[in-house]
Amino acid sequence: MSTQAIEVPTDAELLQAQADLWRHSLYYLSSMGIRCAVELEIPTTIHHLGGVTSLPDLMSALSLPPGKMSFLARLMRVLVTSGVFAADIGSESGVELYRLTPLSRVLVHGVVADEHHSQKYFVLGVTSPHYTEAAFGLTNWFKKDHEPPVPSSFEDIFGVPLCDEKTPLLDEELDKVVNLGLAAHDNLGIATILRECHDIFKGLESLTDCGGGDGTTARAIIKAYPHIKCTVLDLPKVVDKGPADGVINYVPGDLFHSVPSSQAVMLKLVLHTWNDEDWPIMFEAQLFMDMLMMVNSKGGQRGENDWRKLFMKAGFTDYKIVKKLGARSVIEVYP
Ligand SMILES: C[S@@+](CC[C@H](N)C(=O)[O-])C[C@H]1O[C@@H](n2cnc3c(N)ncnc32)[C@H](O)[C@@H]1O
Repeated sequence: MSTQAIEVPTDAELLQAQADLWRHSLYYLSSMGIRCAVELEIPTTIHHLGGVTSLPDLMSALSLPPGKMSFLARLMRVLVTSGVFAADIGSESGVELYRLTPLSRVLVHGVVADEHHSQKYFVLGVTSPHYTEAAFGLTNWFKKDHEPPVPSSFEDIFGVPLCDEKTPLLDEELDKVVNLGLAAHDNLGIATILRECHDIFKGLESLTDCGGGDGTTARAIIKAYPHIKCTVLDLPKVVDKGPADGVINYVPGDLFHSVPSSQAVMLKLVLHTWNDEDWPIMFEAQLFMDMLMMVNSKGGQRGENDWRKLFMKAGFTDYKIVKKLGARSVIEVYP
């Protein structure tokens, strides 16, 4: 055992360290709190109540047993503190009122707003028992000397990769929730991209969306720029489900083999740029996303240096970060 002395923190440091320890060790209650809110449909219920509600009205709209009123107040207090909801004292009634915030508005289910769909399934997927079990398995996974390609902790525990043809055999409901969650996640912000980056679509006549999924992004582009001829390239199992309505040219294939020719090619996945000290919360969100991918897939988030190397290795001459949009970025890459 080491007999080395340890630096004793000051009283103030010690108290701060204890508070930080509570926060970091109990972050999972923040995740489970937002999951509980989504499962109870609190955001959707507040929306149906006009976007603002008192605790008793929320209780009765949720049909919860009266004995749970004070407990719901405690859950709401945590969710208000973390920005999921807002609270204030009604000027007329003098009682506390809960309101939706931008965060809880994207959790309202059954309403399509600004081209995007509710993020309900994103929350249910990433806080699911399978995801959390994969995260629990991280210590064992680190200790195992895996042969490359190193499986994710998820695959190591459950024997199948996530988002794979075999995932439904593990759990059909999980597969459904994860796919709905991914679709919701990928579609969030399309309207923002079109508004904020309209210059990149100006003068464009044809575009291939590589890995464009069911064509939701391509559809939003055509709606905003009807003259652009959009092709969606994706794996046959994805494209075969796309509607053959003539609006989008769906091409089944593998982007590593060939890409239908067009004026520009789009790869809309999640391109994160790091090293942005001005955005510590965005940075933390990006790091959590990287950790999520490490636990559940073989992928990871790339920093700007990684992207630069990748673009150059692929034979491109230059790139430009056109826009940073929250935790994501739009990057133009030039031949
Ligand atoms: C994370 S999703 C992104 C979907 C869409 N671009 C978006 O942002 O909404 C990745 C997509 O890439 C597709 N994909 C994966 N491997 C591919 C390949 N080799 N060739 C073509 N598409 C592929 C998947 O089927 C999936 O639809």
